[in-house]
Amino acid sequence: MDRMSVTEEFAGIQLPGHLHTPESLRYAQDFQFKEGDVVIVTYPKSGTTWMQEILTLIYSQGDPEIATTVPNWERTPWLEHIYFKDLLKEGEGPRIITTHLPSEVLAPALQDTKAKVIYIARNPKDVAVSYYYFHKMAKFLPEVGSFPEFLQLFLEGKVHYGSWFDHVKGWHRQKKNLDFFYITYEDLQKDLRRSIKKVCGFLGCPMYTEEVDKVEQHCRFSVMSQNAMVNYTLIPREILNHDQSKFMRKGIVGDWKEHMNHEQSEAFDEIFREKMSDCDLKFVWSLD
Ligand code: A3P
Repeated sequence: MDRMSVTEEFAGIQLPGHLHTPESLRYAQDFQFKEGDVVIVTYPKSGTTWMQEILTLIYSQGDPEIATTVPNWERTPWLEHIYFKDLLKEGEGPRIITTHLPSEVLAPALQDTKAKVIYIARNPKDVAVSYYYFHKMAKFLPEVGSFPEFLQLFLEGKVHYGSWFDHVKGWHRQKKNLDFFYITYEDLQKDLRRSIKKVCGFLGCPMYTEEVDKVEQHCRFSVMSQNAMVNYTLIPREILNHDQSKFMRKGIVGDWKEHMNHEQSEAFDEIFREKMSDCDLKFVWSLD
């Protein structure tokens, strides 16, 4: 498998060389967005796949045909990945593009266009847990030690894709400069139907009640975790080892409580308060 242990350095962050090259990253930075493009932006493990599925189903008016026959990386490709050029299709609907890149790299190009940006954030304690398990299964990410060791690296921003804090704050700062819609993983969890309707409103895609019913039905965790087009079971185990962890792992809010003790959680809160002191975003840590 290609470049499994290669790390690319770009814009001050590290990225897996299996998916990124200097050329693919330059291509992403110079990409010409256009009116009608819809760009899903996330820090890893924040609900990217969920939003890819929601958008696919909104644009198919709830018809699951595409969602159940075309892998998500083909219908909503990653801008910075090696395969992007080959996968991006000029079809009838909008181009749905996914990215984990930081705002410093993409916001300048996006500001000049009328592309729509959907940013999904997730509370960082759950991101850290989900990311830890993803490291266990993804052979293109560095080997991780224990969860406390990983947590330390995560809080210091020394993991692939960089600091969660910088990513969220950087993109949120761009909200006035872009056609920007911000939503959280926890919003999707609390009220999926309402969230779908809000996304429809942002996209200017009115839907009939029965269509919203279908989108909601197909975007449930229980359905998506069985859909091979989104649960990553199509990827060979040399790249993603599903014996280590599932991609659709738990899909809940507050799993961090099973992984962090009181001291770790307090230390996390302290760093969160300090790093987010210049940002008014609020996060939901549990749905209890
Ligand atoms: P967990 O590891 O906590 O289960 P991303 O797509 O950004 O990589 O995020 C993956 C996370 O989103 C995983 O979290 C996955 O289970 C969760 N997820 C994906 N689809 C979901 C859905 N329909 N409902 C709830 N969680 C979902």
